[in-house]
Amino acid sequence: MFTLTPETTEDWWEVEALYDLCFAPGRTALSSYRLRDGVAPVAELCLTARDRDGILAGAIRYWPILAGGQTALLLGPVAVHPTRQAEGIGGLLIRASLHRARDEGWSRVMLVGDAPYYSRFGFAKLSDIVMPPPTNPDRVLGLELRPGAWQGIAGEVTRAQ
Ligand SMILES: CC(C)(COP(=O)(O)OP(=O)(O)OC[C@H]1O[C@@H](n2cnc3c(N)ncnc32)[C@H](O)[C@@H]1OP(=O)(O)O)[C@@H](O)C(=O)NCCC(=O)NCCS
Repeated sequence: MFTLTPETTEDWWEVEALYDLCFAPGRTALSSYRLRDGVAPVAELCLTARDRDGILAGAIRYWPILAGGQTALLLGPVAVHPTRQAEGIGGLLIRASLHRARDEGWSRVMLVGDAPYYSRFGFAKLSDIVMPPPTNPDRVLGLELRPGAWQGIAGEVTRAQ
């Protein structure tokens, strides 16, 4: 049993430690992190998953970005502790946060990730959206929270502020 709750200020470094454990060293050097520099995350969509003992099992964060000049959400990082992977926690965090995002009025989400994993949530390649290099274009994926929300949107991804 896992409980999802919005990330608090007190959770921040624990979540950072989880991301350090789950991702390759130097994760913050990725170009997607430059889109987050100096920009506040979307607090109501950042969730933690804790077990019944309160131990952190997974976490997801979101940032606002501009894609082709239009407001969008950048999903990630999302990670699940190695001892807790493949139990459905990642899917739980992603589905719950996307549900909240829709309820909060967001229209479109994008991420840089593995299509074989994210396609199960409805994400598909965004051929007309360009992430800062050196991002593999095949890993730039998007999801419409409102029908047609990615239609006609093309161009570079830039910081929201
Ligand atoms: C990716 C991650 C968040 C998924 O969380 P999880 O709780 O393990 O995933 P779920 O239990 O919801 O789903 C498990 C399924 O996803 C599959 N899966 C996990 N990562 C995958 C990947 N990168 N590509 C394809 N499939 C993947 C598993 O094989 C499993 O498949 P199955 O349902 O057929 O058995 C987690 O594995 C993780 O933290 N990985 C390291 C950090 C990372 O890569 N984050 C994503 C950045 S793009």
